[in-house]
Amino acid sequence: MERTLIIIKPDAVEKGAVGKILDRFIEEGFEIKALKMFRFTEDQAKRFYIVHKERPFYRELVDFMTSGPVVAAVLEGEDAIRRVREIIGPTDSEEARRTAPSSIRALFGTDKGRNAIHASDSKESADYEIPFIFSELEIL
Ligand code: RTP
Ligand code: MG
Repeated sequence: MERTLIIIKPDAVEKGAVGKILDRFIEEGFEIKALKMFRFTEDQAKRFYIVHKERPFYRELVDFMTSGPVVAAVLEGEDAIRRVREIIGPTDSEEARRTAPSSIRALFGTDKGRNAIHASDSKESADYEIPFIFSELEIL
């Protein structure tokens, strides 16, 4: 069993897709081990995405992630990190609609920046991201 972090981004929360997205992961057999809604401060969003600090899209990413509330969850399942990345689809929502039409980004994302959902991309990211968002007492 493996755990991974997802964050339903401000665009998907705003369009009312939280229930549908969580439902999809439940249908795919994952167990929700932690769940909450919050809004990132600028400092928190910068630190969460610190690996991208030298990227040209960092400023835009931080502005987007702080633009409204998000919903984060810890999902547990076999091979969860790889499988959840597959279910969310490629970073660019347009590419997702072409190559992975049933993926979450194909269904709920707009473009490369506003792409509906984040998911940990490796064991190392999950180990950084899960305790960044959830305290010990908030995880089952
Ligand atoms: P995430 O970390 O959010 O799960 O997304 P990802 O692994 O698929 O993509 P990553 O390369 O880690 O990029 C993080 C987020 O930055 C925004 N982005 N914008 N405008 C652009 O070229 C661009 N590239 C990336 C997206 O919101 C992406 O999910
Ligand atoms: Mg990433």
